[in-house]
Parts: sequence; structure tokens; C-alpha cells
Amino acid sequence: MGFKGRDIIAITDFTPDELLRLFNVAKEMEKYSKSRIELLKDKILALAFFEPSTRTMFSFQTAMQRLGGSVIWFSRAEAISIAKGENLADTIRMLNSYANAIVIRHKYEGAAAFAAEVADVPVINAGDGSQHHPTQAMIDLYTIWREKGKLEGLNIGVLGDLRYGRAATSFIYATSMFKPRKLYLISPELLRIRNEVRDYLDSKGIDYVETTKLDEVIGELEVLYVTRVQKERFPDPAEYEKVKGSYRVDLKVLSNARDDLMILHPLPRVDEIALEVDQTKYAYYFKQASYGVPVRMALLALVMGGVE
Ligand code: CP
Repeated sequence: MGFKGRDIIAITDFTPDELLRLFNVAKEMEKYSKSRIELLKDKILALAFFEPSTRTMFSFQTAMQRLGGSVIWFSRAEAISIAKGENLADTIRMLNSYANAIVIRHKYEGAAAFAAEVADVPVINAGDGSQHHPTQAMIDLYTIWREKGKLEGLNIGVLGDLRYGRAATSFIYATSMFKPRKLYLISPELLRIRNEVRDYLDSKGIDYVETTKLDEVIGELEVLYVTRVQKERFPDPAEYEKVKGSYRVDLKVLSNARDDLMILHPLPRVDEIALEVDQTKYAYYFKQASYGVPVRMALLALVMGGVE
């Protein structure tokens, strides 16, 4: 299936070949990520952000403008007529009538899929609750592909909130498509992967281990994907108190790391990566965030028909 006109709801909707096609276009887009290429002139992108964002919202906005298009946007429900009682479906119908594509972030799982049912124009999921963050996973894989030159056969660790984290979950799905040598799922007991993710890994025959101890596996890893505890997703604040600050990547733990370890993080960071790590050769997370522009340029150009 091509990209044109397609909804982007979950990373698992894509094949490895489709993702590689996206990455090759994104590599081309790197040339224009600080200038302009008029591929989406006269097109409008609607950004519907019902939850806070720095990277996703601004990089979509930047990407669309670098492609010669324009954006309409809101970043909190209080600023639109939802605050007067309008429902989500009617809001999406309006954006559908104004824009050529819609990017939506919402706290409810399934919100993007629902929006895609209501809208005729393509809908891109910018995060729905704890469920999916497909464009983040595209950026994560792209960073590995660009910086390591390959995606297959790697020892990959995912550290942090694997239960509520949509970026971590989407990354686990995404990296599993490219046959990791072994997947190390590192988290406090309370934040282990959900059963549906475990079922997915089992169905794909992925070799994975679940552990609470980063220091015991750090020496194996070629990629370490770190995420914060998703405080806002905990149904019970007492549960959050039990796990906050329970893991941290610092120079001490990195003293046993492989030379070629790459540390990724979707950001925002809270305290799970010590600031001292930023200066090390392992830190790729700001580079990763900067790849958000060319990857989202490529995705918008493909979905909105700027690139065949
Ligand atoms: N990685 C990510 O989704 O960051 P933002 O919440 O700042 O968009």
C-alpha cells in the first residue's frame, strides 16, 4: 500500500519496506530541513493537540512550513469550542473541512482512529493515551538507521515506563519488525510491558528478556532507549510514588557500556538520564529529536501527495 491519503494510526500498520521507503525520502528531506522545498504549496495541515507537546507539535509545524504549506492549530482544548460543549467528532468534521490532513494528540486511546473514521482527509496519530505514537517510532528507527547504518540484528534495551509509555510501546513494536538479536525490556516490576505487547513479541518469535536491573545488561546493549515515568497516566498517585526516581542512567552505570552504545530518548527527560551523560559519545537523543523535522517532512509529503 502507498502512503498517499493514508491514515497513520499505529507503527504496526506499516511493513519494513514501507518504513525504509519513508527513511530514504527523509534522508533527501534533510537537505531542506533548514530551508524550503515547495512540495505542499497551498496545502493546509491542522494540528489538534489536546495534550502538551514541544517536539511533536513544533516539528510537524516546521515540517509543513519547510514544505511550503501552512498550518492551523490549537494546543489546548480550552482554546476551542470543545470548552463550550462541542464534541470531538464535530471538531474533527470542522478541521476536515478546512485542512488537507489532520494531526491529533489526545489522552484517550483510540482517539486518532476515531478521528480517522470521521474525517475524509488523512489523520496522523501524534499520540493517543498509552497506546501509540507512530511518528515517534519512525524517528527512533530513522535515527538508528542513519547513525548505525542498519536496523537488523542489534541488541536493544528499552528502559523505563513500558506500561504507560506510548513512545516506548511503539518503539518495541517498531524495532521488532527489524529482527533484533535480543530485546532487553528493563523496568520496575510495576511498569513492565502490557500483555498485548508480550503477545505481539511472542507471535513474532522475538528473543526478549524482562529485567529490573540495567547494570546487569548494560554491557550487552548497542541501543538503549530510555523513557520517563509517565506520571500523568497513573490512575493512582500512590502507585506513581512507588516508582518515581527508581531508575537512572549515569556515568557510573555507563562505565560498563559497549563503546558503540547509542542512547535514545523520545524526550522530554525528567531525571532518568543524568545531565552528565549529555556530553558523552553515547548521547544521541538531541540528534534524534532533530531528525523529527526531515522524517515528518517525508511523511507529510508522501501522505499529502507531494512525493509519489
Ligand atoms: N517525544 C514527544 O512526543 O515529545 P513531545 O511530547 O514534546 O511532543
